[in-house]
Amino acid sequence: MYASGRPITLLLFCLFISATSSPVSIYTPAPPLPLQISPPSPSATILPSPPSSPPSVSEFTAGVGCLLTLTPSTVVVRFGDPVTANCSISMMGFLGLGWIVSRATSTFTLDCSVVWSVDRMTEWSITPMCYAVSEVTGQCHKNLSLTVYKPPDNVSISFVNHAGPLSEGQQYTLQCEVQDVAPVKNLIVTFYRGQTVLGHMQSSINTERKPVSEVFTLNITSTKEDDGLQFWCEAKLELGAEGPQQPPVVESEKLNATVLFGPQLVCPTKLQVKEGESLSCEARGNPQPSVTWFRHGHAVALPTNSSREHAGKYTVSAHSLLGETFLTVQVEVLTGEGTTNSCTRHFLLAVLLIWTINWL
Ligand SMILES: *[C@@H]1O[C@H](CO)[C@@H](O)[C@H](O)[C@H]1NC(C)=O
Ligand SMILES: *[C@@H]1O[C@H](CO)[C@@H](O)[C@H](O)[C@H]1NC(C)=O
Ligand SMILES: *[C@@H]1O[C@H](CO)[C@@H](O)[C@H](O)[C@H]1NC(C)=O
Ligand SMILES: *[C@@H]1O[C@H](CO)[C@@H](O)[C@H](O)[C@H]1NC(C)=O
Ligand SMILES: *[C@@H]1O[C@H](CO)[C@@H](O)[C@H](O)[C@H]1NC(C)=O
Ligand SMILES: *[C@@H]1O[C@H](CO)[C@@H](O)[C@H](O)[C@H]1NC(C)=O
Repeated sequence: MYASGRPITLLLFCLFISATSSPVSIYTPAPPLPLQISPPSPSATILPSPPSSPPSVSEFTAGVGCLLTLTPSTVVVRFGDPVTANCSISMMGFLGLGWIVSRATSTFTLDCSVVWSVDRMTEWSITPMCYAVSEVTGQCHKNLSLTVYKPPDNVSISFVNHAGPLSEGQQYTLQCEVQDVAPVKNLIVTFYRGQTVLGHMQSSINTERKPVSEVFTLNITSTKEDDGLQFWCEAKLELGAEGPQQPPVVESEKLNATVLFGPQLVCPTKLQVKEGESLSCEARGNPQPSVTWFRHGHAVALPTNSSREHAGKYTVSAHSLLGETFLTVQVEVLTGEGTTNSCTRHFLLAVLLIWTINWL
């Protein structure tokens, strides 16, 4: 057998683990943890360490020529669901392989493949590692890329320090609170107004694998177009190709926006109406403004059937809780289908008649 100290030590160690039904018992709770990176200890090569000392990761070089295959190589699993991965080796002359999942879970086999599986994934931050011990290349390992996810328990939206209607043109801060989501680095929060996307956001906490709650904020300036629309947010876990086909999405409730604005008058300063029609000028605002027409300084009832005597200068007022606005409107009443035209026609007819008479 190849006479270097290390593989033999490891092999002994591994065989020891595989032969022990409860591997926990061989470890003392004190560090070093088996998954901790510790600097290579020179003494390890000179003096064979006793089998009770766990291998440190640094001994398993992830070097080239590590012919381990993990199937699948990336696992995305929902918290509480089962997970399985197969580690196999396609190299001659290896001594064995196994998984190191946590301090309490290690395996070792002399077969060409070894499966790690759990019925319910209830750990957030483990990195299962498959390792092989070879006569030729020494030791090597491959880590399983494992993502344990959990959609948020609750997503809710609100305005920061504000309740009730919004005022037009003011800045407000929307906040979207996402509770208990993992892993937060895969989270994308989107703010919406109606069906319009206002912005996407990602967490600034990038490494936490356990569920966290986070508040995302977005500043908006209210416009009158927002009146009656709904603000809401959505939390989506983007888990990549290995994740579920439909990424988990949780939506907040909808926040009805009421924007106070106006009063505004929408009509031309030269208003042309046909004889018989009514005069009108649109007033906009929330609350709905009331409109009054003034003529010669007096409020007048609007004619529903306007005639020529209604032409002239008016002042229109729109009034609401928020204030009052005025507009001067010059009203022109277009008399029925060519009063002037028919006059001209009669005149021409008369002229024609006179000429005819004269010719006769
Ligand atoms: C693991 O993979 C090896 C190599 O592809 C295969 O021979 C073996 O059957 C697999 N084991 C399981 C349980 O799928
Ligand atoms: C595998 O994971 C361990 C910690 O769990 C880490 O120290 C090591 O660098 C990783 N190896 C690779 C190749 O990423
Ligand atoms: C979600 O959070 C909001 C605000 O904290 C709360 O009003 C609501 O009841 C929660 N919903 C659930 C299902 O927990
Ligand atoms: C949003 O508004 C708040 C207070 O109005 C301000 O402190 C904050 O910097 C603003 N954030 C952004 C991103 O503009
Ligand atoms: C929000 O508006 C919708 C319709 O626009 C209405 O059905 C719903 O009751 C409103 N919600 C609240 C809390 O006012
Ligand atoms: C409008 O007034 C004219 C004359 O002032 C009258 O002939 C016509 O019947 C009125 N039309 C309506 C709809 O009241």
